[in-house]
Amino acid sequence: MTRVTDRTVLIVGASSGIGAEVARRLARNGNRLVITARRAPELASVAKEIRAAGSACLDIAADALDPGAASAVVAACVAEYGSVDIALLNAGQGPDMSMDQVTVADIARITALNYDVVVHYLVPLIAQMKSQRDGGLIAHTNSLAGLMGIPRQGPYSAAKAAARTLIDTARVELAPHGIRFTSVHPGFVATDRVGADGLPKPFQVSQNRAARHVVRALEREPAQAYFPWTTTTLVRTLRALPTPLSALILRKLASR
Ligand SMILES: NC(=O)c1ccc[n+]([C@@H]2O[C@H](COP(=O)([O-])OP(=O)(O)OC[C@H]3O[C@@H](n4cnc5c(N)ncnc54)[C@H](OP(=O)(O)O)[C@@H]3O)[C@@H](O)[C@H]2O)c1
Repeated sequence: MTRVTDRTVLIVGASSGIGAEVARRLARNGNRLVITARRAPELASVAKEIRAAGSACLDIAADALDPGAASAVVAACVAEYGSVDIALLNAGQGPDMSMDQVTVADIARITALNYDVVVHYLVPLIAQMKSQRDGGLIAHTNSLAGLMGIPRQGPYSAAKAAARTLIDTARVELAPHGIRFTSVHPGFVATDRVGADGLPKPFQVSQNRAARHVVRALEREPAQAYFPWTTTTLVRTLRALPTPLSALILRKLASR
């Protein structure tokens, strides 16, 4: 395990929630942070906290749905600090969405919000890290919902599963270049954005605890990280059960 210190860290989706909390934690260890998201005022306020904690910080308001904007953020990071040592791709959103009400456009939107945003950063980051002597670490905030089709979260589950698969391939192909990939799979986390979405949230953990797990994953660089153990065990058990039984349990859990 190596403590994340004196590194250039790019966090995509750092204006609130888990990403902002990870940024605050890394700021205590003398890193150089580049934080990005769409909401400029929220981002500026996180950047102010980071600088007050003694770390350098560049905040760039940018929409990860725009591939050109994503490339420009990576380029700005390199122009400012010379490299991207660690990137945490954290932008994403999983609203309550049932398959009997969803539209094709809804699914396209959720896919873009959770998969395209990863792709738009992954490609320029791989190009950049290939040119760096020590490669780099690309981490993604996935979800335990990416491990199976969760009721009321179908399009989100599917997009996160696709992101995991793409990253799994990148990990195999890019190891010779020193580029490492970590997919972090949180269970339910009590962030402001999900507070009022009406979804049942068994074994929900605090934003602070989630950020602690993410930082640990950045330090240890496992291929996959899962937390909390309660929800992880629930999901693993559901995957091992016969489909009719797991479907029954999932339906019950979703209707709570
Ligand atoms: N909360 C949970 O229960 C939970 C569970 C498992 C996984 N996750 C995952 O954890 C990650 C963080 O979620 P969170 O709960 O901390 O919610 P959050 O507070 O909404 O964080 C999402 C971050 O991503 C940014 N973002 C969203 N779309 C973006 C875009 N198009 N371009 C740039 N930035 C964008 C948001 O900022 P702007 O709106 O300012 O752009 C925000 O900073 C997500 O990937 C989510 O899927 C969350």
